[in-house]
Amino acid sequence: MSGGFVTVARVGEIPEGGVKVVRVEDQAVAVFLVGGAYWAIDDICTHDGGPLAEGQLEDHVIECPRHGARFDIRTGAVLAMPATSPVATWQVKLEGDEIKVGWA
Ligand code: FES
Repeated sequence: MSGGFVTVARVGEIPEGGVKVVRVEDQAVAVFLVGGAYWAIDDICTHDGGPLAEGQLEDHVIECPRHGARFDIRTGAVLAMPATSPVATWQVKLEGDEIKVGWA
């Protein structure tokens, strides 16, 4: 599969501090708007598959609704157990009012 970007939402669809779950190549991807910038991570907790977008978001930190692992949505880094592996991040760019998510 070669790299590329796909349009997943339009500006205005995701409120500040909000999230939208989209599908990219059969992957569930959580797209957040925080501080005026968009961030995208796999919507699958690396601990046990929890739906991260359903968790509590505080600034750039999302808490898994299942067992409370925390990740930085900018880097995917684990900030709290029980997860030990980072969650995959996606690149996001704007083209006009289209929000695009891509992979390398
Ligand atoms: S599935 Fe996310 S912390 Fe367990």
